[in-house]
Amino acid sequence: MSRHIVVLIAVVCLLLSSGRALSGCNLDDEDCRESRMHPDLPSVNGRMEYQSKIADEEASDYWLEQGKQFVREKLHTPANTKIAKNVIMFLGDGMGITTHSAARTLLGGEEQSLAFEKFPHTGLSRTYNVNKIVPDSASTATAYLCGIKANSGTIGVSGYVDRSDCLQTRNVSNYVSSIAKWALDAGKSAGVVTTTRITHASPAGVYAHVAERNWENDSEVKSDCGADSNVEDIAYQLIHGEVGSKLSVILGGGRREFVDTTLNANGKRSDGRNLIEEFINQSSRNAYVENLEELNNLNITNVDRLLGLFQDNHMLYHLETDEQSNQPTLAEMTRKSIEFLSRNEQGYFIFIEGGRIDHGHHDTYARLALDETLEFAKAIQLARELTEEADTLIVVTADHSHSFTYSGYANRGNDIFGPAPGKPSDGKPYMTLGYANGPSYDKFYDVEQHQRQDPTTIITGKPRDEFPVTIPLASETHGGDDVAVFASGPWAHLFTGVYDQNTIPHMMAYASCLADGQIACSK
Ligand SMILES: *[C@@H]1O[C@H](CO)[C@@H](O)[C@H](O)[C@H]1NC(C)=O
Ligand SMILES: *[C@@H]1O[C@H](CO)[C@@H](O)[C@H](O)[C@H]1NC(C)=O
Ligand SMILES: *[C@@H]1O[C@H](CO)[C@@H](O)[C@H](O)[C@H]1NC(C)=O
Ligand SMILES: *[C@@H]1O[C@H](CO)[C@@H](O)[C@H](O)[C@H]1NC(C)=O
Ligand SMILES: [Zn+2]
Repeated sequence: MSRHIVVLIAVVCLLLSSGRALSGCNLDDEDCRESRMHPDLPSVNGRMEYQSKIADEEASDYWLEQGKQFVREKLHTPANTKIAKNVIMFLGDGMGITTHSAARTLLGGEEQSLAFEKFPHTGLSRTYNVNKIVPDSASTATAYLCGIKANSGTIGVSGYVDRSDCLQTRNVSNYVSSIAKWALDAGKSAGVVTTTRITHASPAGVYAHVAERNWENDSEVKSDCGADSNVEDIAYQLIHGEVGSKLSVILGGGRREFVDTTLNANGKRSDGRNLIEEFINQSSRNAYVENLEELNNLNITNVDRLLGLFQDNHMLYHLETDEQSNQPTLAEMTRKSIEFLSRNEQGYFIFIEGGRIDHGHHDTYARLALDETLEFAKAIQLARELTEEADTLIVVTADHSHSFTYSGYANRGNDIFGPAPGKPSDGKPYMTLGYANGPSYDKFYDVEQHQRQDPTTIITGKPRDEFPVTIPLASETHGGDDVAVFASGPWAHLFTGVYDQNTIPHMMAYASCLADGQIACSK
């Protein structure tokens, strides 16, 4: 039988197997061979290309050659010991290993790779913090940006500061600076980009010192610390703080944290300020944009600092946007930022976050979480195309994992959002994807009958499909498993191994000769 026919048969068999959920289709199987005569092939999410790849997989040569090819690639990847002029850190909030593994299937098949999964060097980051086994996004931002572990809920302050401590939050002895400051001190430019509110925990790690991540606006500070605490909220620190006021690019959501509610009905502040206007007034070379059109039309020639706030709250989930949303994608923000920062001959540091992967998971919206993961990967692909591996270190990681599970023995080619084959003892199907805990419990549990509902009757293809959980909790939780780190560019090989999350900025600083620690150019 020619290879061509083998491929064809396998394609047909795999397409048909989606309709025969419980049996895999093996080429040695008579039924399988005959099924190639089936007149109308059901299409499975445009996966033709993917299916024909699986056909190759039956031949041992395919795997032997793939293995050899990988070794060849490794042999031809010399360690890059140049100095990193630029450092780009990409953070997939809540992007545990199950998340990017499952997202591959959404991309086109299990054998696909997201852009960053092709990076030459990888390692594992241990995410526990000073007081919790499983961390939050504030303490982890302090770790991967400032180089120290701290307590949950705190940003840019040491482990001596407890969450919400109104006194110690103002004690500068406890402050730790981020790699953005190290880069600014070295004459580089710095920026921050996110799909969440720009004052949310992860981006705040770039520029804030605060004992409570929820102090995004002054109203929050007032309710926790009183009216005269002199504690600066996160939005205020972004516009007037030591690091915030020097950032060249600031793009994300969260307009509401910047404007007093009496000046704008959507504003959340209560100190009478309009921090956006204050930013604009700081210099005639500051520019402010609030939609995709304005971002695209901006002539950056006469602009030194760019603030873009594209929603009052978080930016919309990519799957829920349309033309009218007029909101840039993470890739579009990435392109503008890199164009903007590249003008500094000394280089730059930029932090770019795919922040809503985490939000999708907390609500058990697996489709949204995985789609946001693909959007994140697109931005990384673009950053790689816009920069040179010779002088730009790109590091991709997550802050923490989730209780997201990816299990059961689904056949190749199955819908990743579909059921796994086989029946649990209650006779009802179960899904490939799920969560150990979360808010969707009641939806999937028939309280009167004391049994599970059939999940396939509830999960019907909506972006906000909730996925099943084992334990009822108002919000699905983070996971404590290690997250992956992917690195490309100068000194990317440092990022191999299993290490504590707070070592990441030390490695980036080494590669880029920042701060006063060990640096590549001191040799
Ligand atoms: C400020 O923080 C330092 C370092 O943690 C500590 O030694 C000092 O007692 C603190 N000062 C006050 C006034 O709490
Ligand atoms: C900001 O302030 C308002 C009160 O004006 C509050 O309701 C809101 O939750 C605050 N925090 C955030 C993160 O928006
Ligand atoms: C910004 O400058 C304009 C023009 O000088 C002024 O009218 C406005 O009050 C200023 N806004 C703020 C928030 O400082
Ligand atoms: C941007 O502005 C500069 C200086 O004002 C001008 O020379 C240039 O032509 C402008 N570029 C575009 C694309 O409009
Ligand atoms: Zn979270």
